[in-house]
Amino acid sequence: MANNALCLRDIDAFYGDSHVLQSVSFTLGEGRLLGLLGRNGAGKSTCMNVTVGLLPPRAGAVEVLGAPVTRLPPEAIAARGVALVPQGRRIFKSLTVRENLMVAARDVLPGTRHQPWTAQTVFAMFPRLAERAAQMAGYLSGGEQQMLAIGRALMSNPRVLLMDEPSEGLAPQIVAEVMATIRKLKESGLSIVLVEQNPKLVFDIADDIVILNSGRVAVVSTAAELKAGAVDLRQHLGVF
Ligand SMILES: Nc1ncnc2c1ncn2[C@@H]1O[C@H](COP(=O)(O)OP(=O)(O)OP(=O)(O)O)[C@@H](O)[C@H]1O
Ligand SMILES: [Mg+2]
Repeated sequence: MANNALCLRDIDAFYGDSHVLQSVSFTLGEGRLLGLLGRNGAGKSTCMNVTVGLLPPRAGAVEVLGAPVTRLPPEAIAARGVALVPQGRRIFKSLTVRENLMVAARDVLPGTRHQPWTAQTVFAMFPRLAERAAQMAGYLSGGEQQMLAIGRALMSNPRVLLMDEPSEGLAPQIVAEVMATIRKLKESGLSIVLVEQNPKLVFDIADDIVILNSGRVAVVSTAAELKAGAVDLRQHLGVF
């Protein structure tokens, strides 16, 4: 039986005394794209931080490709094939574009279907980064920085790619480019969690949707069902 790419099971997570995730569970199937939706402060980034080991959960389990990774350090979880494109990009501004890519390079895990990612293949995907390979990353535009953040995550040759609001703060044309890139990555067989606030952006690309509300899972559905209007989204996401 095929493994799930990622499974969060009954996760409870805290920042200090603040109980931010309450019994959160969801599963990403291999080769699928899960849209993780929710308002500001719903707990989406916290789910990402728990998954990559930056915030160890107080209870519950995280599994990557069928193996438990709960409370492993971030480096060990990255080595299992999980990469995060963090909210706000967090590229290394004083390194060049090429250096940003090279610091993230990691060997391919056994079982990876696609060709290994290298600086060359990232540059082929994002020609604008190739033109700026020797430039300091801090001088890139917002859209270019997002492309670099995605390229940097790909350099670790992940099996599971987590993307935290990659469209945030970008012009519509650039958002469309980023979404087209995500579609290509999905077609390459990568398993993806796409965190978003705007359901319109994910409904056409996602297989599955999870909606968080105040640190709890409010909705688990297929994208097709939600598009067909099976759930009152305004209740969980505000008006769109
Ligand atoms: N480092 C932290 N210390 C304390 N509280 C935090 C910290 N990070 C987040 N929180 C709180 O945890 C809750 C969930 O935050 P989180 O960042 O996961 O939300 P989010 O769904 O990603 O929101 P957004 O869409 O605005 O990015 C919020 O109430 C937030 O204020
Ligand atoms: Mg967030």
